[in-house]
Amino acid sequence: ATIHDQKLRRGAGGELHQDAAGDTPILTTAQGGPILDDQNSLKIGDRGPTLLEDFHFREKIFHFDHERIPERVVHARGYGAHGYFETYDTLSLAEYSRADIFQRPGEKTPAFVRFSTVAGNKGSFDLARDVRGFAVKLYTQEGNWDLVGNNIPVFFIQDAIRFPDMVHAVKQEPDRGFPQAQSAHDNFWDFISLTPESMHMIMWVMSDRAIPRSFRFMEGFGVHTFRLVNTNDESTFVKFHWKPKLGLQSVAWNEAVKINGADPDFHRRDLWDAIQSGAFPEWELQVQLFDQDFADAFDFDILDATKIIPEEILPPIPVGRLVLDRMPDNFFAETEQVAFMTQNVPPGIDFSNDPLLQGRNFSYLDTQIKRLGGPNFTHIPINAPKCPFNNFQQDGHMAMRNPTGRVNYQPNSWGVGPRESPERGFRSFADGESGQKIRLRAESFADHYSQARQFFISQTLPEQKHIAAALTFELSKVKTPVIRERVVSHLLNIDDSLASKVAQGLGLETMPQAADAAIPTRQDLDPSPALSIVER
Ligand code: HEM
Repeated sequence: ATIHDQKLRRGAGGELHQDAAGDTPILTTAQGGPILDDQNSLKIGDRGPTLLEDFHFREKIFHFDHERIPERVVHARGYGAHGYFETYDTLSLAEYSRADIFQRPGEKTPAFVRFSTVAGNKGSFDLARDVRGFAVKLYTQEGNWDLVGNNIPVFFIQDAIRFPDMVHAVKQEPDRGFPQAQSAHDNFWDFISLTPESMHMIMWVMSDRAIPRSFRFMEGFGVHTFRLVNTNDESTFVKFHWKPKLGLQSVAWNEAVKINGADPDFHRRDLWDAIQSGAFPEWELQVQLFDQDFADAFDFDILDATKIIPEEILPPIPVGRLVLDRMPDNFFAETEQVAFMTQNVPPGIDFSNDPLLQGRNFSYLDTQIKRLGGPNFTHIPINAPKCPFNNFQQDGHMAMRNPTGRVNYQPNSWGVGPRESPERGFRSFADGESGQKIRLRAESFADHYSQARQFFISQTLPEQKHIAAALTFELSKVKTPVIRERVVSHLLNIDDSLASKVAQGLGLETMPQAADAAIPTRQDLDPSPALSIVER
């Protein structure tokens, strides 16, 4: 930045004033009134009390008083950048999806991406052992598409109804108000030990993946199974993956601890420095495409967000690249106010019945109405579509786009205003569903250990050692013996050597019994009608 050597004027109390001159604009109030003196409040005499009449003072302080908005209930600490998504020339998804973004090879679509940690608050440090959010907003010609993913391809829980409990357990304990950005405490491990479905995710979170060297060296995953829908209304299941051009890199745990002390902003500084120096980070979008027969052939359920579809079985296909090449002009306006929502999908991309995804589709809009102060947060430039958009929504706090003229409804006889489009409008995939109304999880969701084991044994020996060390370190902070034992009892279903190393590291005197891993059939459960199951 250039330092302007402007003329300084001394006030009567010795304070320094800078006056507008030449091209420098005049300082004004929010109402546009020119300001005489921004350093002295209006007083009776030069030593007297300040006057309530000082509208300039009151406006300046009131605005400051209201600067904070609620931080995100999860993923509070994040860092964003602008860029673009470019479809490859070589391959088009047009055969599978009518989404406008996939129709023309080589086309660029503007993008905004926010990376985040999950558990820590806004002022926490970057190198916590934690999942990283990888949220992508693509401003397509047919509306915004938000792929709100993480750097880990699976999740802790299978059903969104458990999310508040999971987040309460991972965040600070309600009485003591700590810890904030570490998973090392009794509540978190208590919840985990009582949640066998979290075991696959736990393997990832205890691995080096959870302490990435920087955002530039992370993968991203849409996690859920989504659908692509083509112009013939045919559906193909899809999993979305972002692969970093720089490859995957992590730090070691002792490095993470030192970096957090020396530079808590390590990851955001890395992204800022890289982009400002022209080293634009890049990810390839890859998709795994499959049909219902392929899905039915697995023992696990493709609607279960604790499972991956192994890439050896179904190699992902590259379809385009995401490049981040510009930092926001203003952190608050863009990175803080950006609102990602899983339900933002353009025509040609659709949901599966994954119960975690279905719950998320409610949660994001709801939380953003609260966090961003009302229903008009889509008017904020970072959230507004970059394609034409027209509707009859009106009023509410901060309304910026009210309909003009007489017409604010349709159908109408006045021949004005936007109209529906049978050709281009979003048409949900017509999935034939029927069944009892019940609160029951499918048997196909019940195997919680096979993929956890698969992940563990796919790691190199040093990586396996890191997982054992991380589990030992984290569990050594847990004060309640039964919780430690319960976690080890799950590890016994994953890998014996891992369980023994952790048990030894924790100084357990006897090895606990392995947790019950038997998969109950629906007949094992109460076979009586739905209502009694609800009441059990
Ligand atoms: C925020 C990912 C599950 C509720 C976020 C963000 C990401 C994310 C990346 C941060 C977005 C940003 O940078 O602004 C995921 C993934 C999930 C998952 C990958 C599972 C596969 C859930 C579930 C719920 C939920 C099950 C609730 C039912 C929220 C809420 C926020 C959030 C309320 C804060 C949003 C805001 O204030 O802007 N999630 N999430 N998430 N997530 Fe999730």
